[in-house]
Amino acid sequence: MLKGKHILLGITGSIAAYKAAMLVRLLSKAGAEVKVLMTPMAKQFITPLTMATLSKHPILVDFYNPENGDWNNHVSLGEWADYYLIAPASANTLAKMATGTADNLVLTTYLSARCPVIVAPAMDFAMFKHSTTQQNLEILRTNGVTIIQPTSGELASGLEGEGRMEEPENIVACLDKLGQQSSKKKTLAGLKVLITAGPTYEAIDPVRFIGNHSSGKMGYALAEEAAIRGAEVTLISGPTHLPTPENSKIKLIPVTTADEMLRASEKAFDNITIAICCAAVADFTPIKIAADKIKRKKNEVQLLLKPTIDIAATLGKKKKKNQYVIGFALEIENEIVNAQRKIHNKNLDFIVLNFLNDNGAGFGGDTNKITLLYEDGQQKKFKLKMKSEVAKDIINAIECLMTNKK
Ligand code: C5P
Repeated sequence: MLKGKHILLGITGSIAAYKAAMLVRLLSKAGAEVKVLMTPMAKQFITPLTMATLSKHPILVDFYNPENGDWNNHVSLGEWADYYLIAPASANTLAKMATGTADNLVLTTYLSARCPVIVAPAMDFAMFKHSTTQQNLEILRTNGVTIIQPTSGELASGLEGEGRMEEPENIVACLDKLGQQSSKKKTLAGLKVLITAGPTYEAIDPVRFIGNHSSGKMGYALAEEAAIRGAEVTLISGPTHLPTPENSKIKLIPVTTADEMLRASEKAFDNITIAICCAAVADFTPIKIAADKIKRKKNEVQLLLKPTIDIAATLGKKKKKNQYVIGFALEIENEIVNAQRKIHNKNLDFIVLNFLNDNGAGFGGDTNKITLLYEDGQQKKFKLKMKSEVAKDIINAIECLMTNKK
């Protein structure tokens, strides 16, 4: 996917700049042409000679060559590029990008570039976690910049934590994936999609909760696939261990409880064309949350639970002509009859049925085996597949429904 692509690589002042040499090697090996821009500070970390030799192009740092007045045109650089990758991206450069500061060539090129921009942050743990840096990253994400999350490990400061620039191999793989995505047809362009994902946690007391084993992987895979097809995705997710999706078309709304998930879903639903209720929402929640940690006792403790409000059914009831609501069902017995009843009761367009007894299906894992079930009893069975592939099958089915309704 990178063969013949033009890649601008912006290097900023970070110790991880040494990894930029490997990045150029890998990108060239993948068949891309690379031109390198450096901030003045980046020259202190890796020499322009190294980068010019590897990229086979002169390094651009200043707006013009003081010797002969030759102008380094950032607008034409931006037009030349298929991708603008800034790696490593320091906290300083990220902050300037977020505010539109344009005091060096890396930044002016960012403001004029029309191609996808990707940043790979690298900095100390505390700097990365600082709310200002996180806010700046959020602004960039909102502006369509792809953020390659730093990894955890030993940092130049001697401390351990998140802030290490992702390894060059993985950065190249990310660019490759972006290339694959942009070559796909944008069949959901202009549409808004809502996806609920993960478990919900219902507090019992300040330290305990009722939860379940949902990993969120199926919902996140659906969000990824819808975004690849051009949709604006609102991903309302209960607590998971999954990283924030990198795709800037996915807006993650983290929630904890079924009630929070319901409120976030209802708030988003009016502008939504497709809602996929994938979350394993708790069906019951404690009537009262104990103010203090419930003390261990010798005798039994009774926990009074009340049912949660069904989000899928709430959205199903509100559904207008041009809206679609899809549900999931994990059944243990009488699967088809039970799931079909749910389609009716919740006013769903179809239901995605998983079977608890099938190897590799359902919670936690990377694979799933599904049957799509429609109100008229029609069934579409699929083989065991990776969840990313299952997501394609589900979204194909939704697109098919939309086409038939036109
Ligand atoms: O009725 P059951 O819980 O088996 O239905 C599962 C489907 O309903 C899933 O799509 C799930 O996301 C949704 N659901 C919901 N809100 C609830 C319970 C389930 O949206 N409170």
